[in-house]
Amino acid sequence: MMKGLLGIEQLERDEIEAILARAKDFQPLQNQSFKRLDTLRGKMIVNLFFEASTRTRTSFEIAAKRLGADAVSITASGSSVSKGESLVDTLNTLAAMRPNAIVMRHAASGAPYFLARHLPIPIINAGDGAHEHPTQALLDARTILDNRGQLEGLRVAIIGDIAHSRVARSNVHLLSKFGVDIVLCGPASLLPAELGQIAPGVTLTNDIREAIRGADVIMMLRVQLERQHEAAFPAGEYFQFYGLRLDHLALAKPDAIVMHPGPINRGRELSSEVADFQRSVILNQVENGIAVRMAVLERMIGEQTHC
Ligand code: NCD
Repeated sequence: MMKGLLGIEQLERDEIEAILARAKDFQPLQNQSFKRLDTLRGKMIVNLFFEASTRTRTSFEIAAKRLGADAVSITASGSSVSKGESLVDTLNTLAAMRPNAIVMRHAASGAPYFLARHLPIPIINAGDGAHEHPTQALLDARTILDNRGQLEGLRVAIIGDIAHSRVARSNVHLLSKFGVDIVLCGPASLLPAELGQIAPGVTLTNDIREAIRGADVIMMLRVQLERQHEAAFPAGEYFQFYGLRLDHLALAKPDAIVMHPGPINRGRELSSEVADFQRSVILNQVENGIAVRMAVLERMIGEQTHC
């Protein structure tokens, strides 16, 4: 049984493959009118979100409910955190309610690791600062596989605010375990050189056209203004240099797909035409988020014998 899911970096390739294969089994549920399974009946999952979220929180909640579990969501602004309670006291309080797993998003890199050291409950990282967002990388991989059949040998361009992106980091860890050619692209101020050392097969460029040339997958990222203390790039010029437009797509492979973890900002990191383009799989990523999170939750708490 998995102890929790804190990051992709520590995961073995066969564990990733097992989650992705199981997620595929769950995909058809999406189109059935009765969507509920019984696997986690009687289990309770707490979603603890200290940062804004639409997709991730909702999809963990739906995933838990589809497996028959109860899901409770707590957001920092509506909780006692806003009354000054410390992280440890909030967590001990939640632990006393005996959930079977805690899903956590926090602005501080490493916060879920801290939680995992303190509590004997599986912890799932739903995004920690600019560090990791493991279920996002898993749902991205599921989406690429659905469109390409394999990861090996693909060229994936990840474009935007690389420096502040936990999505980029988790994707680099995952894709590099599968022999993917990864190009990271962004303005110099948002493209730290050390990211090129995370794994072999990663290259960096400041030129969006060079990144897109020959790409099978173009993954766009939001500019994380909430993590920038001063603007790293003039906002008005960002789209001109790093926004994805339809004419860029001619440089990629003819059947290249466009991805984005959301939330998208039309006219900032991609044009509206690209967002709505038929090879944009942004909403398929959202759908796969549910299937992948079902696979993760099942793997983590499905085999627990105690309650
Ligand atoms: C991402 C995140 O929160 O890291 N969103 C998400 O989970 N789908 C990306 C972002 O906020 O830009």
